[in-house]
Amino acid sequence: MKRKSNNVCLKAEGLTKVFGFGRRKTLAVDQVDLTLYEGEVISIVGESGSGKTTLAKMLLGLISVTEGEIYFKGQKRDISTHRKKKEYWKNIQAIFQDPFSSYNIFRKIDAVLLDCIHMKGGKRLPHDKKVAMMAEACSFVNLKFEELTNKYPFELSGGQMQRLMIARIFLLKPTILLADEPTSMIDACSRATILDMLMKLRDEIGMTVIFITHDIGLAYYVSDKVYIMEKGKFVESGTADQVILNPTQPYTQRLLSDVPKIYEEWDLSTV
Ligand SMILES: Nc1ncnc2c1ncn2[C@@H]1O[C@H](COP(=O)(O)OP(=O)(O)OP(=O)(O)O)[C@@H](O)[C@H]1O
Ligand SMILES: [Mg+2]
Repeated sequence: MKRKSNNVCLKAEGLTKVFGFGRRKTLAVDQVDLTLYEGEVISIVGESGSGKTTLAKMLLGLISVTEGEIYFKGQKRDISTHRKKKEYWKNIQAIFQDPFSSYNIFRKIDAVLLDCIHMKGGKRLPHDKKVAMMAEACSFVNLKFEELTNKYPFELSGGQMQRLMIARIFLLKPTILLADEPTSMIDACSRATILDMLMKLRDEIGMTVIFITHDIGLAYYVSDKVYIMEKGKFVESGTADQVILNPTQPYTQRLLSDVPKIYEEWDLSTV
């Protein structure tokens, strides 16, 4: 799993997000600093409402930043125009909790996958080459492209949809993948498969991964570094071993006490 380099690919300084105004103000993310190195897998763990998704959306450029700065590959991130945003999204992609919300439901699956090829500059490739690429991406996630053509995303199961998301990532090959609770909507068996696929893809294309989860056991299983988030702040961070085997914060200890089997070998049959 260790494939870290010393190159910083994403950095956040003092990242803050406030929703609403006046008495209805919510401080969702509060002065978060984060340095992400190329090739590492980090997890952000925290209870519901701790600000994980809000932080993810700021890193992705899906919502505005109230305060703070984001640097991508050493440069201040600039997503001030639609074109610059699209350019940024070639580098950073996400898989979300709810696969249903991740697709435009009126676009057929071939169109979803074709978009990825086009986004990577493959618009002028011959059609049979595009089909071969889509078929390869589908077979990577054990889906049959022939059976998917002409279908809409809502005609798939939750697990199939998450696999389609991974097929998209396979085609897009982003530098950074942000996976926000990608397995919480699906059954145990599919969860293990999805995780395996993500990790395989990560090894294959050397992605940097930000994994967001409630599940500290899962974080230990997949990540080099773990960041514990409470009420919008990182309260503890370090290598997975440091944070999970020797937690110093009561909040981390509390998260750990909910996971009785943490010290045992991760048993995928119970995921
Ligand atoms: N669009 C929004 N408008 C107002 N408040 C919001 C908005 N999005 C999130 N919040 C608030 O910000 C806080 C953090 O929410 P967020 O979704 O980031 O938490 P989370 O850690 O991802 O939780 P979960 O584990 O349940 O997904 C919550 O108090 C939430 O109610
Ligand atoms: Mg969330």
